[in-house]
Amino acid sequence: MAECYTLETLGELSGVPRLFAVLGNPIAHSLSPQLHRPALKACEIEGDYVRIQIEPERMPELVQRFRTMPMGGWNCTVPHKQTMFQLVDELDETARRFQAVNTVLPDEGRLVGFNTDGIGWVRAIREEFRVDVGELRIMILGAGGAGRALAIQAALEGCDRLVIANRTEATAKALAKETAPLFRAGFDFASPSRVKSIPMDPEVIAKELLEIDLLVNTTSVGLKSEEPPLLTARQIPEHLMVYDTIYRPARTALIQEAEKAGAKTANGLSMLLHQGAESFQIWTGRAAPLDLMRQSLVQAAKEFR
Ligand code: ATR
Repeated sequence: MAECYTLETLGELSGVPRLFAVLGNPIAHSLSPQLHRPALKACEIEGDYVRIQIEPERMPELVQRFRTMPMGGWNCTVPHKQTMFQLVDELDETARRFQAVNTVLPDEGRLVGFNTDGIGWVRAIREEFRVDVGELRIMILGAGGAGRALAIQAALEGCDRLVIANRTEATAKALAKETAPLFRAGFDFASPSRVKSIPMDPEVIAKELLEIDLLVNTTSVGLKSEEPPLLTARQIPEHLMVYDTIYRPARTALIQEAEKAGAKTANGLSMLLHQGAESFQIWTGRAAPLDLMRQSLVQAAKEFR
């Protein structure tokens, strides 16, 4: 079994009765096959889940090929979620909300786009910290693709407070403005104390964290182990829950600093699990075998370290 397919080698998969895939660039290290293959087997669905390496400009060609193949569905990851948003025939409400597609379901010749990142994150927070996003005061570090999705989801869940910090402060400001009207009616929506943006300044962040329950890193800082963390232990209050959406390395510098501070921590593996489980349910109409998927993912993550 190849680690990774391309448009040129897709033909090798012609015998697969029902094909699932994750598209990305790069994609060689994606753990999604280890997440979905055991689930397909457990549900006795004959087929396979593979990685496909594809450049953004070739996405239309790949989607055309998929239309002629027995596709069960596919995921998109960086940098394809916005491109796929343009390529599907129909958008589910979740995809429309985030203006990005991470899950595609072929349905009687039409391609329907979904986004399972928001719900995956909510379930991950519940699993890791036994608490609902809607009950929390949340700070999100980063306002890129992932930061935007989580800020929107946090607002839709009616979280108690939302603070967005970003290196480019204008982006954080625009995102705060975009999320403000999404807070559930019945509250004083969008009061400046409920949703606001701040600069990515450790001292400003540290001061705000005194009034925050959950800190979420969505920036790419931490992917490289030699990078200094955005915050040090001194700036992290002990009461905080810290969720880093990065799962490789398993313990980013931020997580290590949070541990030193005595805060509770979790990494992005649980979000990968829950967004994947939701995709599986969309494709198959079956409840995902969550415990099995979790076990396989944790094992795969260990082997990759
Ligand atoms: P993704 O889709 O994974 O969210 P992205 O859209 O490229 O990726 O967003 C990357 C995020 O990491 C952005 O919030 C980015 O900040 P800017 O908007 O200022 O670019 C943030 N980021 C990247 N490198 C950073 C660094 N060295 N320090 C602080 N933030 C950084």
